[in-house]
Amino acid sequence: MSDPKVLEDFDFHGTALDTIFDQYKSMHESQPVGHSSKYGGFWYIAKSDDIFEAEQDPETWSVGPSMLLPSFGTEMPLIPIDIDPPTHAGFRKILLSLFTPMAINKLEPGMHTTARELADEVKQAFSESNVVDVSKSFARPYPTIIFSRFAGYPEADWPMFDQWIDDIIYERTKDPDRAKQAGDDLIAYVQRLIDDGREGIVQLGIMGELLDAKVDGRPLTNDELISYGYLLFLAGLDTTAWAIRSSLWYLAGNKEAQRLLRNEPERIPDAAEEFLRTLSPVQAMARTAKKDTVVRGQEIQAGERVVLVFGAGNRDPEVYENPNDIDITRENNRHLAFGGGIHRCLGSNLGRKELVISLEHFLATIPEFELADDEPWHGVGSLRLRLTGGE
Ligand code: HEM
Repeated sequence: MSDPKVLEDFDFHGTALDTIFDQYKSMHESQPVGHSSKYGGFWYIAKSDDIFEAEQDPETWSVGPSMLLPSFGTEMPLIPIDIDPPTHAGFRKILLSLFTPMAINKLEPGMHTTARELADEVKQAFSESNVVDVSKSFARPYPTIIFSRFAGYPEADWPMFDQWIDDIIYERTKDPDRAKQAGDDLIAYVQRLIDDGREGIVQLGIMGELLDAKVDGRPLTNDELISYGYLLFLAGLDTTAWAIRSSLWYLAGNKEAQRLLRNEPERIPDAAEEFLRTLSPVQAMARTAKKDTVVRGQEIQAGERVVLVFGAGNRDPEVYENPNDIDITRENNRHLAFGGGIHRCLGSNLGRKELVISLEHFLATIPEFELADDEPWHGVGSLRLRLTGGE
C-alpha cells in the first residue's frame, strides 16, 4: 500500500500532475478524503460518489470565492461558474439558450473545414521537418479559432488569447503578478469588443447576443458582460486544447490504438470519452464549505476550502473496471470530466464535438506517428511528434 503521508502535500498543478495518478491510487487505497497543506490548506475528495453528491448539494458547498484554487487573476466572481443559487440559475439560463445542440450543430461544417485545413498544414510541416509540435500547430489553434468564431472574437487574435490563458491558468501558481496582468489585458480586450459591438463596429456572435440578454427582466450590467466574456475564454479554450493534445499524446505512444481508430473512425467518439475520463483537462475544482459537515467520516468545518478531484473520481476502482487502463473501446463511460451538478459544463457538446472532429481529421490526414520527446501527458505545452514511416 502506498504512503498516505505523501498526500499531505497533494497538489494538482504543474509538474505535480506528472505523478498524480499514483496519488489517486493512494487516495483510493487508503485516504479518499484528506487534507493538503498547499494553497493555504484544503480538503480533497476523491471518490466518484462523494464528488457527485457534493456537486448536487449547493446548500453545503459554495463555489465562492472561486472554483479555482488558487483563484484567477481577477477579483470579480466569474459568471456563472463562481455564482451560487439562487442567482446562478438566471445567469446559466442565458448561456443555455446560446449553447443549444442546434446552435452547436450549425458550427459543424466550419469545424470540419478548419480541422481539415490545420491537419493539412501539419502534413505539410512534416514534409519539411522530421519533428512537428502538434500542440502549437493543431491542438491549441483549433478550439481557439472555433470558439472565436462562435463568440464573435477576431479569429486572427488567437495567439494572444493563448498567451493570456497560459499566464492566467498555468503561470498563476508561479507568477501571480503575470497572471493579474494577463487578466487585466483580457478584461480590457473584452471591454473593447463590447464597446465596438454596441456601436456596431464589429459583428459579435454569442457575445452580441449577451448584449441583448436579460436577467430578472433587466439587461446585463457592463461588469456582468465582462465576466461572461472572461469566463467563456478561460472555460472553452485550453480545456479543449488539453483534451486534443492529451489524446494525441496517448495515440502517439499506442500505435495499435492509432491503427484501430484509423481503420474504424466510428470508434472515435467512444475513444474520446475514454481520453476525457482518464486524462481529464480539469483534474479538480474548488468549493468552500458553507456549514460544518462530514464527508466519509471526515469532519469539515464551515469556511474550509475543499477540492473535488474529478480526475481521481474518474479512476475510482469502485466505478470502473481496471480504472487506470485506457481502453478506447470502453462503453457506457459515465465520467466527471465535465463535472456533474448545477455547474455542469455548458460547453460539453461543443468540447466533445471539437475533440472528435479534430481526431477524425488528424488521423485521416497524418500517417502513423510517435512521440519525438518524453513529453508529459498533461497541459497544453509542446507535443513534438515524428512520423514512423508507415503511410
Ligand atoms: C473538453 C473540454 C471541456 C472540459 C473538460 C470542461 C470541463 C468543465 C468543468 C469540469 C466544469 C465545472 C463543472 C462543475 O463544477 O460541475 C465546466 C464548467 C463550465 N464550462 Fe466547460 N469544459 C470544456 C469545454 C468547454 C467549452 C468549449 C465551453 C464554452 C465555450 C465551456 C464552458 C463552460 C461553462 C460556461 C461552465 C460553467 C457552467 C456553470 O457554472 O453553470 N466548457 N467545464
